[in-house]
Amino acid sequence: MSHNTFGHMFRVTTFGESHGVAIGCVVDGCPPLIPLDVTEIQADLDRRRPGQSRFTTQRQEADAVKILSGVMVHPETGVQVTTGTPIALLIENTDQRSKDYSDIKDKFRPGHADFTYEAKYGLRDYRGGGRSSARETATRVAAGAIARKIVPGMTVRAALVQMGPHKIDRGNWDWDEVARNPFFCPDKDKAAFFESYLDGIRKSGSSIGAVIEVVADGVPAGLGAPIYAKLDGDLAAALMSINAVKGVEIGDGFGAAELSGEDNADEMRMTNHGPSFLSNHAGGILGGISTGQPVVARFAVKPTSSILSPRKTVDRNGADTDILTKGRHDPCVGIRAVPVAEAMAACVLADHFIRHRGQVG
Ligand SMILES: Cc1cc2nc3c(=O)[nH]c(=O)nc-3n(C[C@H](O)[C@H](O)[C@H](O)COP(=O)(O)O)c2cc1C
Repeated sequence: MSHNTFGHMFRVTTFGESHGVAIGCVVDGCPPLIPLDVTEIQADLDRRRPGQSRFTTQRQEADAVKILSGVMVHPETGVQVTTGTPIALLIENTDQRSKDYSDIKDKFRPGHADFTYEAKYGLRDYRGGGRSSARETATRVAAGAIARKIVPGMTVRAALVQMGPHKIDRGNWDWDEVARNPFFCPDKDKAAFFESYLDGIRKSGSSIGAVIEVVADGVPAGLGAPIYAKLDGDLAAALMSINAVKGVEIGDGFGAAELSGEDNADEMRMTNHGPSFLSNHAGGILGGISTGQPVVARFAVKPTSSILSPRKTVDRNGADTDILTKGRHDPCVGIRAVPVAEAMAACVLADHFIRHRGQVG
């Protein structure tokens, strides 16, 4: 039984632990002849990499990726392309510090996966949480860099749109701004506010949650399938699989419950380019199938459970105790979840693109 794989035709298997030798993934089912250079994968990994600002964990990982298989330089064009065979990607762990975690070896961190891993497996990797650590998400970002190249003309972008109770002003939305601040925030003014807001939280040893929005432009109509392969279902599952995600919505999501039928249904009109929608409350998906509009999803990330204030917990021997989580942690894990969200959405869309072609030609 394996649960480390997702996707059907564009299939990603990840492996490795936070404090092991390396992490990596195998991408199977990638079509052949897609130009692929390691620098493209590295560029995405660099956006997720820890230690880039004072607002993320200070663990220093180069996250240098190696392509082990599945590509070759095309004999005629001289360009490195995918061969259609499994693409194996490897990232070595270089900054593990197990001693940071030794004092929590026998205690369950509240809000982390310690208790449930122990309940399931009878042991857990206390060195940074092993496989429950978000270190694993680097491998998804690597796979996502390949997935981005599969659907012609598709762009997948994500942004942090809320931190704690503070939402961005959507009127200020500027995608270019996302690359200019350490929060992946599309609102310049709110990003400036987040600097002092998160500094306060970080210095007090606490943490805060966030909301991330993912938008895929250029998704053709027709991806997704009824009933058990709905695009929104697969997208929600993929985003929910990201560490610390506690809620996912598509389009207006939970807000749709407050709308009337008149306000919610996206009206249509004929244009020179074919049928067109006058709004996008549906988030680009109807009946589990893409409409051709931007696919829009949003998810809530909980505050980092590892904080400096002492918390009540129990130990492996069943005794009550207190715990204080030292070590290096993200004060707002929502920040580094942004590139991970793009990767997961890209993988789901690539998978559905190939599945769609497989069925309808
Ligand atoms: C990018 C990213 C970085 C994270 N970094 C930390 C961290 O530094 N410390 C921590 O306690 N949790 C961190 N988390 C969250 C934990 O991995 C997660 O809460 C834990 O595995 C339990 O899983 P659950 O919250 O999904 O139930 C991070 C999550 C993401 C997405």
